[in-house]
Amino acid sequence: MMINLIIDGKELSVPKGTTVYHAAKQLGIDIPIFCYQDRMPPFGACRMCLVEVEKMNKLQASCALEVAEGMVVKTQSTVAKEGREGILELLLINHPLDCPICDKGGECPLQDQTLKHGPGESRFYEEKRHFTKALPLGPTLMLDRERCIVCARCTRFGDIVAGDHALEMKERGFRTEVGTPGNRLVESKFIGNTISICPVGALTSQVYRFRARPWDNHSIPSTCTLCPVGCSLNIDSRDGQIVRTRSRENKLVNDIWLCDKGWFGYEFVSNANRLQQPLIRRDGKLTPASWEEALNLIVSQIKFAKPTKKIAGLGGNPLTTEENYLFQRLIREVAEVNHVDHRIGTPHFDSEQERLSPGMEISLGECESLSFVILLGLDLTEEFPLIWLRLKQAINKGAKVLFMGNFSPEIASYLTKIVLHPPGKELENWDENLPLIDEWVSQGKSGAIFVGQQYLINFNRPLILDKLWSFRQSHSNLTLNLLEGSGNSQGARFAGMRPDLGPLNQKIEEPGLHTLAILEAAAKKDWEFLYVVGANLAKKYPAKLWRSARENIKFMVVQDLFLTETALDADVVLPSLSFIEKSGTFINIENRIQTLHQGKEIPENSFSDASIFMAIAEKLGIQLSFEPAFLDALSQTKVFHTCELRTSLPLSEPVSNEKLKAVFAPALFDEGIRMKHDPHLIQLVKEPRLRMHPNEAKKRGIMQGDTVRLTTNKGSLQAKIKWDGNVAEQTVIIPLGFDLISAHDLDSNLINGLPIDIQLIESQKEESL
Ligand code: SF4
Ligand code: SF4
Ligand code: FES
Repeated sequence: MMINLIIDGKELSVPKGTTVYHAAKQLGIDIPIFCYQDRMPPFGACRMCLVEVEKMNKLQASCALEVAEGMVVKTQSTVAKEGREGILELLLINHPLDCPICDKGGECPLQDQTLKHGPGESRFYEEKRHFTKALPLGPTLMLDRERCIVCARCTRFGDIVAGDHALEMKERGFRTEVGTPGNRLVESKFIGNTISICPVGALTSQVYRFRARPWDNHSIPSTCTLCPVGCSLNIDSRDGQIVRTRSRENKLVNDIWLCDKGWFGYEFVSNANRLQQPLIRRDGKLTPASWEEALNLIVSQIKFAKPTKKIAGLGGNPLTTEENYLFQRLIREVAEVNHVDHRIGTPHFDSEQERLSPGMEISLGECESLSFVILLGLDLTEEFPLIWLRLKQAINKGAKVLFMGNFSPEIASYLTKIVLHPPGKELENWDENLPLIDEWVSQGKSGAIFVGQQYLINFNRPLILDKLWSFRQSHSNLTLNLLEGSGNSQGARFAGMRPDLGPLNQKIEEPGLHTLAILEAAAKKDWEFLYVVGANLAKKYPAKLWRSARENIKFMVVQDLFLTETALDADVVLPSLSFIEKSGTFINIENRIQTLHQGKEIPENSFSDASIFMAIAEKLGIQLSFEPAFLDALSQTKVFHTCELRTSLPLSEPVSNEKLKAVFAPALFDEGIRMKHDPHLIQLVKEPRLRMHPNEAKKRGIMQGDTVRLTTNKGSLQAKIKWDGNVAEQTVIIPLGFDLISAHDLDSNLINGLPIDIQLIESQKEESL
């Protein structure tokens, strides 16, 4: 239904429910705002958006006022202007006006509104409020309380957009200030967004603070590659060095948000420990070498290994799609074998029947209009943080969510139904909940199943996918989305970094070996040449397997940013560039092609992975070039994966029912190689604990805080236990990616459902629950 009204003498008609603020915007009229932020409902707190409305006594807050038939609005009348001027004057009574030293200076809505709509000079000479300056609310967030205009954007972001209630208003009246629940350090994965929407410099980034002024910065649009979501961001640099990253609006992917890895996870790029020159092992020690020396050595070793065909290239997830293409091409051309794989650390399910395209069937933007969602074994905020922000919008509009998995995620309070079960019971639980699922599917307009790693890295994976595939086939209002991988794994796959697939999904007739098979082959006999790029194999595979494989690999090259555990064991180490320093494409979890642009100067004596592959190829007399069809595919907006058809051979299910089942849980803030070199982000890492349901623990005489040993039939690890009522019984959650808990010491492939024995090592009567 359309409503007719007049704003500043101009007639217009807008849909019922539109606010006066938005109606005026359609006419190009700029009404100043502070508390209103268009990703959240109006709040009507600051009164900055006052307008005059005929037949209404007082000035009205236009952001919260809905249009009405025949309404006559004046935004530029003297009364309206004076009203807004008065509000600004009030706000400025206590505002410290420390613009010259405030990080927001130059991009501050309060500064801008004051210049545009403010009184010009103040009538107040009294002393302003003072607080202890700059209160750290967490490792990345700083609060300057006297700058706060109490607009509540930041607290409402936590309530409405992220759902983590990270900040809250304290006190009342003029004493009102922003703080954290219980005055603890702020708990959030999305707090960077509050800094960007704070309309003044009250919330600032501890990482960026005092590093630069906006007018000094050179801004380049690029893409975050730290998880497979691939959010759009801007890289700001000053004098060639990166000073901050900021979200870049992209309605299709991340809207205007980033997670905190995207906001603050760039310091590793400038870390002094980054590899700065090639290293060659001489007399058992890695010693500095020139590029010429290192590349010549690599080339001579490749030539030596060539007749044996025992040459493999592993890794590639942090690289661009084009670099992955060149990497697989180099290995395939040199050795005429297909031993290339980007899948690192995950078990390989080559014998399964996969009729599904990897990644998502719907776009991230479409998540906001889903009416029902089924989350299967997915810890969304830890693995694909931005997808949560899009899904939360659907929940705000009434979407229902069913979760099934091994432990309830931190978003549990927003889920309609939670079904917890130990690994192995996926199919049973699906069948049990089918009546509810059927009901939702028959009533809902559009729904989605999201499958996460608890279900995908699982002995039952082929059966689970088979069941879900059939279900999706018979329901047209449903999409099936497989959320797995890391970094640019979709791009690496599309570029042909798979032993069974070439670029553009071309099926390889004589597939090579996958990562695990290469390591097993190496451990058994010998392997001539292994080229590892952007992957830390030593921490991702069973420790004993890795050690014996390494002993038998005659020559290993590692190309990375830091001296990882794998690099420490290499014969040649080559430094490479981070995603901030190079251009190319990234294919995200929706198979959308995102672009990377070089956002800072390249460190001296460093080269991109692409240049290194090219240089090696040239020395070998090989011309590495792109197939036109591949480049053509990358110039589109999305890539399409063909589905794979294989014979179904389910992996053997572990037998024992009494044993505990292991579930491996990745975390957003872990001790990965980049995080370790990010001085602020690393402070967000929490001490990792094994987690068990109290009933399960008590049955075995294990108390909160006790140290236990977990044993598989191959190896063991020792760590502390945390009782957690949100974990399914018969299950132990093992965090992945931490030094304190080294899952690869279990010496087994880390498949969810792995049978585990538990033994009490040391009792620690710790704090109660
Ligand atoms: Fe508003 Fe910023 Fe104060 Fe939060 S800290 S209430 S966003 S002014
Ligand atoms: Fe980067 Fe992923 Fe966070 Fe987006 S959700 S900012 S891609 S880490
Ligand atoms: Fe309208 Fe704050 S912007 S009341």
